[in-house]
Amino acid sequence: MAAILRLAVLFSALGLGYSLYIDGCPLYGCRPSGSFSFYLQVPRNNVSINWETQFVFDAVPKGLGCVSDSVNIVCPSNGPFSTDTGYMSLYNTNGTIRWRDTVLKFPTLPMIDNYGDVTGSDGLNLVHYDCDGKTYPIIKCYGLKPMFNMQLVGTMYLLLVSEQGGLVVRETNAIPVAEIFLNDTIQRTNGTFLPISQPVVNGQRFYLLTEFVPEIDEFDPSILNLQRLYAIDVNNRPANIMTIAWCYDFEMERSDDNFESTIATRENKIKHIADSIQGQQNVLWNSNTGSVYVALPPPYLSKSITQRSFWGFRDAGDSPALSIRSDLDVIHMATFEADTSDDEKFHSINSDNDMWIATSDVKLSSVKLDGKISRTIDVAALVGADVTMTSSLVLVRENDTDNDVLIFGANITKPSNSPLLRSIGVNLASKNFVLAIDTSAGKLLWVFSVPDDYEVKGQISGFSGASYRELDQLIFYMENSKKTAKILSIH
Ligand SMILES: *[C@@H]1O[C@H](CO)[C@@H](O)[C@H](O)[C@H]1NC(C)=O
Ligand SMILES: *[C@@H]1O[C@H](CO)[C@@H](O)[C@H](O)[C@H]1NC(C)=O
Ligand SMILES: *[C@@H]1O[C@H](CO)[C@@H](O)[C@H](O)[C@H]1NC(C)=O
Ligand SMILES: *[C@@H]1O[C@H](CO)[C@@H](O)[C@H](O)[C@H]1NC(C)=O
Ligand SMILES: *[C@@H]1O[C@H](CO)[C@@H](O)[C@H](O)[C@H]1NC(C)=O
Ligand SMILES: *[C@@H]1O[C@H](CO)[C@@H](O)[C@H](O)[C@H]1NC(C)=O
Repeated sequence: MAAILRLAVLFSALGLGYSLYIDGCPLYGCRPSGSFSFYLQVPRNNVSINWETQFVFDAVPKGLGCVSDSVNIVCPSNGPFSTDTGYMSLYNTNGTIRWRDTVLKFPTLPMIDNYGDVTGSDGLNLVHYDCDGKTYPIIKCYGLKPMFNMQLVGTMYLLLVSEQGGLVVRETNAIPVAEIFLNDTIQRTNGTFLPISQPVVNGQRFYLLTEFVPEIDEFDPSILNLQRLYAIDVNNRPANIMTIAWCYDFEMERSDDNFESTIATRENKIKHIADSIQGQQNVLWNSNTGSVYVALPPPYLSKSITQRSFWGFRDAGDSPALSIRSDLDVIHMATFEADTSDDEKFHSINSDNDMWIATSDVKLSSVKLDGKISRTIDVAALVGADVTMTSSLVLVRENDTDNDVLIFGANITKPSNSPLLRSIGVNLASKNFVLAIDTSAGKLLWVFSVPDDYEVKGQISGFSGASYRELDQLIFYMENSKKTAKILSIH
């Protein structure tokens, strides 16, 4: 009974329907829309280490990062013991372990509700802990190995995506209520559209990027590599709970291009999808523009498409209206989403709210509703050295009217080449940094040398310290070349 109530609390606290209050970055993408943004009093000067974990653990596969709110900080762990491959909850004061989950094996990022309760899954089990680590009954998941994190849809539903392409919706009491497969016949070949993105949510609707996997053992990838964006509704009714609202097909490669034909195997394609997708952001829903944005990866074994492309669609309800189609090699996206996004007043204040994209050459561009780029911040030019982004991008604001600050982990190959870095006195012997960009000025707010030159990876999250009379913290996952990992808090 307790588990049921607690899950209900989780949903009503995080749900979009009413009293939305998301504090920090409590799930993958920070919000169900995948906005990668949260409120934080950004450290402005004298940025320093608050704590770093002192215990040894190994790099977590795919370096997903952490989730946190002002009650809890939770990260996937990997060691030191073989049972330590689930979640660990850390004290915000000193980064020591508050409790560990010993049930899950390499789960995706969990969700934290406003009470600090944690829900997560590795595809075999669904677990729920209260903020002190007390376990609620473990729920077995059959035939379900989510390749992505779970997602909240509306206020009542938990969505899980299985490795075979089944989409399962569970109610607040964790009972499965609906399952659909995205099966179709493409060029007379039966197959399934498998997810290649984290689902992102707009009210009762979610968007999922998929790629066709034929049910035959061998096929020509250029003929059967169709990628498709689905908009799927989760309806509050007893039957027909999940319905497809619309889908959009990204055009296929032509098979008569002058290339040798290759053969792909179903097994390898499924393995490729499973290996490459977790923790990668491909889709974002922006409620300010009523649009869904897609950073489309090249299809598996594509002969002619080798780069990502960037797409935008206004959701017209029962169909998509293509608004952006560009060759930009977008690797991350972030947009500010206010807590009061359902409020009319908000729209008038923030109608010029842009979204930010990061391209592989580490240019940060602000994109307007119609896809026009209003400005670009060239990070390598700002720094005066070659820069690579190592983590996801995150956007923070102190309040709704504050300016966007963009934060990410960066690898700077020759920091000593940069007059700027030499002048501000960072550690020129290290290559790994955290950069904060003040977008209003188009300037670096600060550059922080990561201790011991660990590389920052995965999602960056935040912890509000107001109720503890402490500074707000930024939380990072980082690892070194020997595959040892640490969690770092700066303030
Ligand atoms: C900067 O941080 C250091 C170490 O935390 C502290 O000793 C110093 O007083 C701070 N300086 C300012 C100007 O806040
Ligand atoms: C870390 O902080 C927690 C709570 O603030 C405290 O209970 C614990 O003793 C601290 N651990 C160490 C090693 O300081
Ligand atoms: C859809 O595809 C899955 C996986 O390939 C298969 O198990 C299932 O039977 C298919 N469902 C339908 C309705 O064809
Ligand atoms: C494809 O699926 C349809 C309907 O599920 C079925 O009738 C047909 O026989 C299948 N074709 C092949 C080639 O398996
Ligand atoms: C919002 O944050 C900015 C930047 O820190 C601050 O200057 C401003 O006073 C804040 N506004 C409100 C209404 O709190
Ligand atoms: C930094 O990036 C370069 C280029 O991607 C890579 O070769 C190098 O190994 C990275 N260095 C570190 C310390 O991560």
